[in-house]
This record gives sequence, C-alpha cells and structure tokens, in this order.
Amino acid sequence: MKILAEHLNRSFWLSPASRLSIMKLRLSVIGTGYLGATHAVCMSSLGYNVVGIDHDPEKVAMLNDGHLPMYEPGLEELLKEQLATGKLSFSTDFADLATADVHFVCVGTPQMKDSLAADLTYIESSIAALSPHLKSGSLVVGKSTVPVGTAQHLRETLASTAPQADLAWNPEFLREGFAIEDTLRPNRLVIGVTSDRAESILREVYAPIIALGTPWIRADLPTAELVKVAANSFLATKISFINAMAEVCEAANADVTILANAIGYDPRIGHKFLQAGIGFGGGCLPKDLRAFMARAGELGASQALEFLREIDAINLRARQRVIDVVRKFVGDDLTGKTIAILGAAFKPESDDVRDSPALDIAAQLHTAGALIKIHDPKALVNAKKRFPLLSFASNINDCFKDADCVLHLTEWREYRQLDLEQIRGLVKNPLIIDGRNALDREAWRTAGWTFHALGRSD
Ligand code: UGA
Repeated sequence: MKILAEHLNRSFWLSPASRLSIMKLRLSVIGTGYLGATHAVCMSSLGYNVVGIDHDPEKVAMLNDGHLPMYEPGLEELLKEQLATGKLSFSTDFADLATADVHFVCVGTPQMKDSLAADLTYIESSIAALSPHLKSGSLVVGKSTVPVGTAQHLRETLASTAPQADLAWNPEFLREGFAIEDTLRPNRLVIGVTSDRAESILREVYAPIIALGTPWIRADLPTAELVKVAANSFLATKISFINAMAEVCEAANADVTILANAIGYDPRIGHKFLQAGIGFGGGCLPKDLRAFMARAGELGASQALEFLREIDAINLRARQRVIDVVRKFVGDDLTGKTIAILGAAFKPESDDVRDSPALDIAAQLHTAGALIKIHDPKALVNAKKRFPLLSFASNINDCFKDADCVLHLTEWREYRQLDLEQIRGLVKNPLIIDGRNALDREAWRTAGWTFHALGRSD
C-alpha cells in the first residue's frame, strides 16, 4: 500500500529536533476501538514508544497477537510491523502507562439508551483510572467526540486528582476505511489548549505530520470540542440535503444524480458527500447530531440546532423510501417474498454495522414477512451478532438465488463488478433497486434487469 511505503521512509523529512523528541517522548492511548487502535499503531509508525490500554482482555490479547478487532484496510499489516519493532504493546493495566508523557484518550461516547445525549461513562472512568499514574508534567489529550464543556469539566477533575498533569483536546476526523491516511495525513490538526506548554508538547508529538504542511489550528477547549461536532453536522446536512432533493426529484420526475453532479461543479458546493441514497449511518454521524442537539438544549441554544432534527428525519425517511419502492414493485404484501440484500456494513471498506441503514432496512423487511438474504464482503460476522434472526449468505450466488428483488444497500466495489447476465439466471425476478446510486443503470438494463434507484426518474 502506497501510504505504508511512504510513511515508512518518513525519517527523511524529520528534522533532527523531531527525531530527538520521537526518541524521548513516550505515548499511551486509552481505548483501543477504531480510533484508539488506529492512533496507537500510527503513532508507533512515526517512531514513538506507545502502549495501548483497554479494559477488554480479549481485545488486548488480539492486538498483542497482531490481530485487529475490526476491519480497516492496511491497519493489521501496520500493527504487525509495529509490534515487531518492540515499540508498540497493549495492556489492560493502567500502571503500564506510568512512564508515558502524553496520554491520548480515545474511548467511545455512544448515545445514551434513554436519551439523545452522549454517554460519558467511559471517558470519566478512563480519567479516574489514569490519574493515579500520571507523572509530573504529563499531558492528557482527549480525542473522543464529546459534548462541549466536557474538557473543561475533566480539566477541573484532574486539577484535584492529578494537579501535576495538564489536559488538552485534539478532536479526530478520521473516516473508517481511510483511517491510516486520515491519521498520518490529516487535512488539519485542531488542538484545544489552555497553555503554551501543552501546545508545544503537541507540536512535538505531531512534528512529522506538521512537516507535511498540515494546517495547525490552536483553539480553546470548547471551540476544539465544537469543531468536531460542527464538522460532522455539516457532513450530515450535506447528505440529507441531497436526499431531500432526491425526494423532490422523485415527485417531479427528475434525476438527482444529474442534479448533484451539476451543482457540485460550483466549488462553493463541491461534489463530495452529495451521493443520494439510503443515507448516513455508523457510530459517528447519527449519534453526534443527536448529542449536539441535546447539549445545545442544555446550554439554552436548542433553537440554533432545530434544523438538525430535520436532517435526522430526512435521513431516517430515506430508509423508509427504499421500502416503499420495494412494495411498489414487489407488491404491498411482502409475506414469503425473497429479497436479496447486497451490503450490511454502514459503508464500504468497513465491517462496522452500527446504525447501518442497510441492516435497518433488512430488519424492517423481515418484520414485514419477507425472506431476507444478506451478503457483505466483510461485515457478516458483526451483522449476525446484531441481528441473529436475519439470514445471511457468505456466498454471493446463494444470496441471489430465487430472489424476487435485489437491493443494493452498501456500495462495495465488487457489486459494481458482478456478471449481470450470470446473476440474472439465479434470481426469480430480475429487479434491482439501487439504494446508493452507485450502479451502472444502463449496464443492468442491457443485461435484462428492471432497474430503479432513489431519486431518479425511470
Ligand atoms: C465520519 C466523518 O466523515 C469523519 O470525518 C469523522 O471523523 C467520523 O465520522 C467520526 O466522527 O469519527 P465515518 O463515520 O467513517 O466518518 O463515515 P463517513 O464516510 O462520513 O460516512 C457516513 C455515512 O454517510 C455512511 O453511512 C455513508 O454511506 C453515508 N454517505 C456518505 C452518504 O449517504 N452519502 C454521501 O455522499 C456520503
């Protein structure tokens, strides 16, 4: 992989001062989920000694054995390589981070079960477990996505439990599927600090990345926290905007893919994140929007984010719209109808099924009486754990067999490379509904399929 080869040769662009700090600074990463595992491996690849801490002994054992608890292109290879250097290790014991100078807190902040707000249990317990081991002059750096005001509150906690340490906030913008690239070549580094010393420590840590010309933005703690949720809210808004346009296009007999392409040429709008379809899911965008609204309410600013409620509603409606299309073409009564579903992950190049639009649609069709068969190149194990009552096909031909309808719900590359004539022979009815606007409509039609997509006239 290009990026691995490139950053392995990175020492040529490190200044002598940076090389010295890399030798000196020791890092810890608390939480080894998506964000933490990636951060630990990538920081080690920059030359640092890194210990990753997680309370889950199974996950720690896997990582120490060179296996990732999730799928992320290129990351397992880099993990193995870094373990072999002896500079990277994982542990369940917080005492093992006592020699580190900088501690990155990367634990999850999921949505609360009974409200829209973020659950800060893991972040608070990590800070509590970390405090007794912090050496003098060390820096705790939050990377998790948190409601604005959390960092200041944690700073006050640390001031009483570990006054020898300082706290900074450094939000993470990595995308699943591009985690290494986004960590080692981010499009910006944002740090929230309350002292010059904290900034200079972070400048040392990120010296190799700053040397690439990466924009460096210093902010106060609340601004740094807000940058993250504002960015995710903007991305979600862009997706829901184009999905709202898709609804209008359907009503007006127009084509949202042409519309998106045309407006995207305006550089103020851009083409990215204008792919209409079944909308956004995953462990970040949906819960971040909701937590942002909840926090704004606590701050007395709920009106400012009222529009995000509509963004969320448009997003959830996109899932329903695909079901409406199925009913329109397969029949209102779905009992006993066989539906092949291509894709379970919330997006391609990921095995993450958290709030996956594809699985939500599959579950709703199952509840309506349809016989569902789901294929995904990477996410079947996670999908089965989450929805044990649904049926899964690890062989794609089994997925198509006798289907009354095929739904394309996660745009994996392999679904664009199918032999359309061959699979037409497997289904009962050659009907494809493209929920991601990623398939070649003409090619499917030429191969004898009836083709429908969200937001496109026929
Ligand atoms: C998102 C942000 O893009 C990252 O910058 C951020 O760091 C991350 O959340 C986070 O908070 O940790 P990610 O969840 O990996 O990253 O996924 P995205 O690539 O943003 O996609 C989110 C969802 O939007 C997916 O379900 C995708 O299928 C959907 N999407 C994306 C669309 O429906 N249309 C588009 O045009 C683009």
